[in-house]
Amino acid sequence: MKVIIPVAGFGTRLRPHTLTKPKVLLNVGGKPMIFYIIDQLIKDKIASSIILITGFLGEKIREYLDNAFDFKFDYIVQEEAKGLGHAVHCAKPVFKNKNEECLIILGDTLFDVDLKKLINSNDSVIGVKKVDDPRRFGVVEKNDNGFIKRFVEKPSSKEISPSNEAIVGLYYLKNSSVMFNSLEYIMKNKITVKGEFQLTDALENMISKKEKMTTYNVTGWLDCGKPETLLETNRYILQKRNKKIKSEYPDSKIIYPVHIGKNVEITDSIIGPFATINNNCRVSKSIISNSILDNDVTVENAIIEESIIGEGAAVKRETVKISLGNNSELKI
Ligand code: UTP
Repeated sequence: MKVIIPVAGFGTRLRPHTLTKPKVLLNVGGKPMIFYIIDQLIKDKIASSIILITGFLGEKIREYLDNAFDFKFDYIVQEEAKGLGHAVHCAKPVFKNKNEECLIILGDTLFDVDLKKLINSNDSVIGVKKVDDPRRFGVVEKNDNGFIKRFVEKPSSKEISPSNEAIVGLYYLKNSSVMFNSLEYIMKNKITVKGEFQLTDALENMISKKEKMTTYNVTGWLDCGKPETLLETNRYILQKRNKKIKSEYPDSKIIYPVHIGKNVEITDSIIGPFATINNNCRVSKSIISNSILDNDVTVENAIIEESIIGEGAAVKRETVKISLGNNSELKI
């Protein structure tokens, strides 16, 4: 089956990291997030071809994937980021056979899910997760027979959400020709949300053409699109892996779960819980928890919490000389 992975967005919510590194190459649990998606697809032998829709900094994604995996990927450039629907439509030239099925996975979302089960269906399947506050998400409304009746993008605060099943970014579509036709319909008719062509509008159009769609409950939905969700996903991965390392840091304390990469120097420090310290980092006299340090980071004399520190960056707290009068307060 052909798998489409759109990775052409700017990742603005993760700036400044995404100004120099594409979002899908940001590190989580010791690997770029895209690694986990591709690794599962290849191990599960699901994909006959994997099509990456690239844009800003796309050549870095290509360089990483071609080195990391023994697989021939297809790359298609989305010249302008005109929305997820537009990105998916860019894959059309690769679909030569009519009525071919396809799987769409967002590049910035990890799933702890059995993909083989998800695609084992006679109908199209949309990955969903039950959420407490559906107003922040696109949701699906279903008929009594379990098929999707309509898609609702972020129900407004006044509107009562028709369901609490949020769309998570995993789509198995039985008939890609119908999908491409519906995408063309929304583009031709300029149906946009905030100026972008949305995939959900095309799915809605597919339903109006009597395409049957059902849902699959994805419990392990790991969003990586914002700093706080990236750190949450980091915690999930480390907790699940819970790998102990042979301690090479006799004067430091390691509180598991953590990831410590290769050639890392740690002295007089407390690392963890939930710290990802990548290759070649130097940490001394510091406390690091619930954070991600990319490769080649230096931390000295600092307490780091809930932080994401980019490749080659340094955090050094200097000793200050102070002459502070009586009854003063100085917060540093
Ligand atoms: P998002 O809207 O969540 O990602 O799209 P973004 O645009 O990169 O991030 P923000 O909102 O600016 O922070 C979900 C997925 O769809 C891809 C993104 O790369 C991401 O993997 N996408 C989105 C495209 O490939 N092209 C687009 O035009 C829009």
